[in-house]
Amino acid sequence: MTDTSPAKPLPGPRRVCVIGWPVGHSRSPLIHNTWLARHGLGEAYAYTRMEVPADELADTVRHLVPLGFRGANVTVPHKEAAFAALHPFVDPVAERLRAVNTVYRDRETGDLRGTNTDGFGFLENLRRSAPEFSGSTATILGAGGAARAIADALAREAGMAVRIVNRTVARAAALVADLEIDATVFGWEQMDQALAGADLLVNTTTLGMAGQPPLEVELSGLSDGAAVCDIVYTPLETPLLRAARAAGLQAVDGLGMLLWQAVPGFELWFGIRPDEDDVAAARAALIADLEAA
Ligand code: ATR
Repeated sequence: MTDTSPAKPLPGPRRVCVIGWPVGHSRSPLIHNTWLARHGLGEAYAYTRMEVPADELADTVRHLVPLGFRGANVTVPHKEAAFAALHPFVDPVAERLRAVNTVYRDRETGDLRGTNTDGFGFLENLRRSAPEFSGSTATILGAGGAARAIADALAREAGMAVRIVNRTVARAAALVADLEIDATVFGWEQMDQALAGADLLVNTTTLGMAGQPPLEVELSGLSDGAAVCDIVYTPLETPLLRAARAAGLQAVDGLGMLLWQAVPGFELWFGIRPDEDDVAAARAALIADLEAA
């Protein structure tokens, strides 16, 4: 944090929320309220949770301002419905993903707009956690919403050749067709082929999450110095990341994506871009919270 004087609140409603169903598990309030406090804005603004059923989602998103909110995050299962509610007032990333995770007011017109910061969060975290990483081929396990955002960022922003491995191959094929990216699709049984020579492996499946079966893959086919990312963060060190570290590979945990995806939203709502120190402080708060849970 470079500026030590408290920032002045901007005009407009003072609240932001995360919308989901259920939403009690969301750690976004902890991240944003940590940053508000660090910038002397903890009294001026509040970041809360809002549990919204599917049939009320579109109305809620469209009426955020009269409801007293200057913006929102949208989480599972509402990102696609939020996109539909805001369309065509969405940016090109949200348009490609057909999903919105961040809603904000346009500074000039005051209109609500939707964007999607998940892919940015993934790439920014990779760049900061593994600064020496460079590679041309990425293998993504899974084909859900997170895989979409990550595949889009890796193919379009990072210019990598992408391979998608999914248990349900048709879902991976639909992802590639929808995103119009140049990517190869593999079934789960073709795992070794999909990993051979890859510079980056990303797990977006639920395997390895507490209470789920572990993700068991053979990492020896990856390139030397490959990076392995897991978006699962409960536990923080998944069996996959432990195996990656043991094999001398770079291991990138899932909290970083969650933290960095929050940065653009905070800036859009509150006019201040959280820096590395802010992210480190929120990370410490998240780890304490996860350990207490
Ligand atoms: P999100 O949208 O949060 O990224 P999701 O849509 O719930 O997640 O997707 C979860 C991913 O984990 C999917 O790719 C799923 O594979 P299918 O598309 O075949 O369902 C994958 N997954 C979940 N359990 C799995 C298992 N036991 N083995 C392999 N893949 C699994």
